Amino acid sequence: MYNAFFGFKESPFNLTPDPAFLYRSQQHEEALANLIYGVQSLKGFVVLTGEVGTGKTTMLECLQDFLTASRIEYAYLFNSRLTVEQFFEMIAYDLDLRCARNSKTEVLIALNQLLIRNTNEGRTTALILDEAHNLEWDVLEEVRLLGNLESRRGKLLQIVLAGQPEFDRKLDAPSLRQLKQRIALRCTLKPFQESETGEYISTRLGKAGMSEQTVFPPELIAEIHVRSQGIPRLINAICDNLLLTAFAMESRQATLAMLEEVTEDMRLDWPGRRISVSRPSYSTDLREPTM
Ligand SMILES: Nc1ncnc2c1ncn2[C@@H]1O[C@H](COP(=O)(O)OP(=O)(O)O)[C@@H](O)[C@H]1O
Ligand SMILES: [Mg+2]
Repeated sequence: MYNAFFGFKESPFNLTPDPAFLYRSQQHEEALANLIYGVQSLKGFVVLTGEVGTGKTTMLECLQDFLTASRIEYAYLFNSRLTVEQFFEMIAYDLDLRCARNSKTEVLIALNQLLIRNTNEGRTTALILDEAHNLEWDVLEEVRLLGNLESRRGKLLQIVLAGQPEFDRKLDAPSLRQLKQRIALRCTLKPFQESETGEYISTRLGKAGMSEQTVFPPELIAEIHVRSQGIPRLINAICDNLLLTAFAMESRQATLAMLEEVTEDMRLDWPGRRISVSRPSYSTDLREPTM
């Protein structure tokens, strides 16, 4: 809507986890390196955790780009609210297994054959599970068993699990002790520091076609950081709304007054915020957009 006004090729603050807009913060760089290393070195289980909106799915998208470029076969399950039957059906579908996909036994046999064939040919196979905190206990047990398959070279199936911090707590349950012990690599994504928030905003604007950003002055970025608490998804939502407001007011620069209006409309709450008596205060709602 405002793209032509600001001279953008694309909207800079889309909410999709698009690797083309990647800002390589140190922790995102490290997380991606860990995921890639974990898969390549046949480590078995790799876990990525982080609060909602910190970039987990974006990292998994980058990992998939890497796997595709390296011709590593993988299944990617982004919907974690699955029954055991659906879990195996999705794996069979993604890996294009020729078998009765609604039969767990048949899928397991076909998967085993694929894993052995790939391993004999020196090829790696991976399973990526997003939103792992939502996985049912019985599905997690199947995940654990899949992680047990191994040859002399190492694990036959490399499993990457990404989830919110409660996933770590779930792994502490006695029934998942064995799975927890087998996790070879872990990484965590944290909200940005203030300097990173600024670089993040500039990077996304740069990728959209604005090399020297002048829309968000430094004092505004400092305030966006406070109100978003350094969470990329919230930074995107705030900046997108700010650009829209600036466009509506035919202004090439966003202001603190606009930010006030935008965060009020978003019903955003942040630590240290003055409580307004004019409206009830809601806590920050960081829920996932439905994809
Ligand atoms: N390092 C990053 N570079 C560019 N965009 C990012 C980065 N991290 C997060 N984002 C953006 O923030 C939003 C939320 O990221 P997402 O990967 O969906 O988070 P999560 O899966 O942890 O909830 C998306 O719009 C995504 O593009
Ligand atoms: Mg996600």
